[in-house]
Amino acid sequence: MMTTENSACLARIVDDLAERGWSLQPAFIAQTLTQELAEECRARAAAGALAPAGVGRGDGLQVREGVRGDRIQWLEPGQSPASDQYLQCLDALRQALNQGLYLGLEDFEGHFALYPPGAFYQKHVDRFRDDDRRTVSVVFYLNPDWQAEQGGALRLYLEDGRTQDVLPQAGTLAVFLSADLPHEVLPASRERLSLTGWFRRRGEQPL
Ligand code: OGA
Ligand code: MN
Repeated sequence: MMTTENSACLARIVDDLAERGWSLQPAFIAQTLTQELAEECRARAAAGALAPAGVGRGDGLQVREGVRGDRIQWLEPGQSPASDQYLQCLDALRQALNQGLYLGLEDFEGHFALYPPGAFYQKHVDRFRDDDRRTVSVVFYLNPDWQAEQGGALRLYLEDGRTQDVLPQAGTLAVFLSADLPHEVLPASRERLSLTGWFRRRGEQPL
């Protein structure tokens, strides 16, 4: 159900993206749902369901741990009540972005991600060279009591030359324009869990 509180949160994300291309929300969804998602991520990892993430797409997909060292599992509707609830929250965000910014976002693709201690993801942009559908990146963090000394920040390279570090603290949602903001994940001294994904617009269909 949509509350006044979360519609205010969606409105802030829309305004931030319009003004500067990125937004951080420290408490995007209820703490209980955040905890359920963290437990689910750990359970999926313990069951061996998370696989080394690749770089690139389609035939060019490669596992390169020197580029990214996370393990992932893609989200599908119907996997669990918690992940379905999360997908519903994201769909409300997708609709708010379409209403406020006319982005024409059609769908979402995303995955659980686990970075073991020491793993990182080198500086990159999320939009693929040969597929421009990824438009808005959304990363939701699942790590309670994260301390800055533990590393693991998401570092955003802003358009004015500054950087913005985001700690992967449970409850925080980072949102940014996929084509515009290069970013990296710094290594951490503890396991780092997240749900990462992208709202996509319609692609150019070959005739
Ligand atoms: C990614 C990514 C950021 C993060 O998976 O493309 O940049 O903070 N993740 O996990
Ligand atoms: Mn990325």
